[in-house]
Amino acid sequence: MRNFIIFGPPGAGKGTQAQRIADALDLKHLSTGALLREEVSRQTNIGQRVQDLMAKGELVDDNIVDEIIKNKVENSGQVAGFIFDGYPRTISQANYLDVLLAAKALPLILNLEVSAEELSKRLILRGQTTGRADDNQETIKNRLIIYQQQTQPLLDFYASQKRLISVDGQGEIEEVYRRLSDQIK
Ligand code: AP5
Repeated sequence: MRNFIIFGPPGAGKGTQAQRIADALDLKHLSTGALLREEVSRQTNIGQRVQDLMAKGELVDDNIVDEIIKNKVENSGQVAGFIFDGYPRTISQANYLDVLLAAKALPLILNLEVSAEELSKRLILRGQTTGRADDNQETIKNRLIIYQQQTQPLLDFYASQKRLISVDGQGEIEEVYRRLSDQIK
């Protein structure tokens, strides 16, 4: 089994690249953002609890995402591996995931590096075209701050364990994908 975490700030291209890597390596792609948005659109109990937090760009409770990931990992049957997208985002989530996967294979972290200007540009453009609730100027600003405060510290955590690979996430989507592929083949 091979497991990966695609990592990076909002708009870095995690979802875009995770889908390509999942297709190429036959991995199961698990995006907590997408799974939470699905809960919101179905107006489940979880969806109602997280809706406002997500609209403001705040993180939802660790317990909620940990539970969602645990269910998905345990009920995915035989898979070649997982690629986690948007999870973990806190040290607590990172520890939880390591325990969950300890008997399988600890994930390698693929970190996408993109400048703040480029991130804002991409997210504002997507907000204009798809209308995602958190792709507006004010929430984008908060998402970037939350990333710096709560998620970026995970990079040191993984680097100290020699599980971190960083690549330039700027340029054409195919070009970024090639850089990632070169690191994991
Ligand atoms: P989530 O859905 O994970 O949002 P995010 O981290 O802000 O990331 P995005 O989906 O905006 O960007 P991405 O890096 O996936 O890039 P993408 O490929 O989409 O989380 C949303 C919310 O859910 C959080 O704020 C939080 O509230 C909650 N949440 C989720 N997980 C959680 C957790 N673990 N714990 C607590 N709360 C959690 O690309 C972005 C855009 O750029 C697209 O339009 C794309 O087409 C474009 N693009 C991609 N690559 C390129 C490129 N190379 N050049 C030009 N454009 C590009």
